[in-house]
Amino acid sequence: MTQRVFSAMQPTSDSLQLGNYLGALVQWVALQDGREAIYSVVDLHALTVAPDPATLTRRTRATAAQFLAAGVDPQRSTLFVQSHVPQHAELTWILSTFTGMGEAGRMTQFKDKSAKAGQSGTNVGLFTYPVLMAADILLYDTDVVPVGEDQRQHLELSRDLAQRLNSRLGEGTVTVPEPHIVKEVAKIYDLQDPTAKMSKSSSSPHGVIDILDEPQEIAKRIRSAVTDTETVIRFDRGSKPGVSNLLTIYSAFTGRPVDDIVADYEGKMYGHLKGDLADVVVGALAPVREATMEWIESPEKLDSVLAQGAAKASVIAQATLERIGGRMGLLPLAHR
Ligand code: AMP
Ligand code: TRP
Repeated sequence: MTQRVFSAMQPTSDSLQLGNYLGALVQWVALQDGREAIYSVVDLHALTVAPDPATLTRRTRATAAQFLAAGVDPQRSTLFVQSHVPQHAELTWILSTFTGMGEAGRMTQFKDKSAKAGQSGTNVGLFTYPVLMAADILLYDTDVVPVGEDQRQHLELSRDLAQRLNSRLGEGTVTVPEPHIVKEVAKIYDLQDPTAKMSKSSSSPHGVIDILDEPQEIAKRIRSAVTDTETVIRFDRGSKPGVSNLLTIYSAFTGRPVDDIVADYEGKMYGHLKGDLADVVVGALAPVREATMEWIESPEKLDSVLAQGAAKASVIAQATLERIGGRMGLLPLAHR
C-alpha cells in the first residue's frame, strides 16, 4: 500500500526560517515521490498565542505560499488549512478523553511556554495543543510524519494515543505513525548562538535566516556567524558548533557530504567558507522567494488551491472520525 505522509506548520511568522525550511519543508517536498502526501497550515494551533486577526490571515496565506514555492505540488499532494476541516477539532475532543493530565503536563514545550507565561498567561489550548496535533496526524491514517527534532516528544504522544485507541476500540481503529527525522538537518542552530536551535523566538534576530529575507541580508548574517578562535575548518559539534552548523547548512543545500566540503576547504579561512556558503544559500533561496511573492500576489489562485485541498482532506477525515465515533458508541446520524 502507498504510504501516507502528513505534516504541518503553524502560521506564526511571515517567513519561515532556515530551520523550518531544511529540517521540515525540504523533507516534505522529497517525500512526495512515491507516497501520498498531505500538508497543512495549522491555524488552530496558532490561536494558542492569540495572534492579531489580520496578521493571522496574512500569515496563513504566506505560509501556504512558501510550501508551494518550495515545491509542495498540489497536483500530487493535498495542501489545506486546518480550520477548513472541522474534523480536526472534533477528533481533538475525543482524543482528549484518552489523554492523561499527567501525560499532557509532561510535554516539555508546554512546560517551557507555561513557565514563561505564568498561570494567568497560559490558556487551556496550550495544554491541549499536542492533542490537536495528534488529531491532525491520526485523522489521515498517517504512516510517516516528517518533522524536526523538537517535535519528537509530541509525536511520541500521537503514537501512544494511537496505540491506546487500537487497544481499547479494536486493532485497525487508527494507524500508528512513525516519525521521519533526518538526523543531519533535524536541528539547525542559531548563527549567533550555535548551541541553541534556530527559532523565530531567538534572542537575536541576527542569528536567524528568514527564507524570504533580502539576499544582502542573508549574506550578511552568514558572514557574521559566530565561529571559534581556531582557524581549521572541520566538523566537530562539541568544540566547533558554529563551523559545524555552517557545514551542515552547506551540505544540505548542495547535497554534498560534509567530509567532501571539509576536504575542499583544507588550509582555507572561515571567510572563504562563509562567502561561498552565502552564495549557495542566496542562490537556492532566490527562486523560492520569487515564487512565494507570485503566490501571495494571486490570493484567489492560492485560496482555490487551499479549497481543493480542504475538500480532499475532509473526505478522509470524515471517514476516520465516523469509524472512531462508531467504535466508541456515538450514535450514527440516521438518514431522514
Ligand atoms: P515551528 O517553527 O516550531 O513551527 O516548526 C515547524 C517545523 O520546523 C517543525 O517540523 C520543526 O521541527 C521544524 N524546525 C523548527 N526549527 C528547526 C530547526 N532549528 N532545525 C530543524 N528543524 C526545525
Ligand atoms: N506542532 C508542530 C510545530 O510546532 C506543528 C504541527 C501541528 C504538526 N500539527 C502537526 C507537525 C502534525 C506534524 C504533524 O512545528
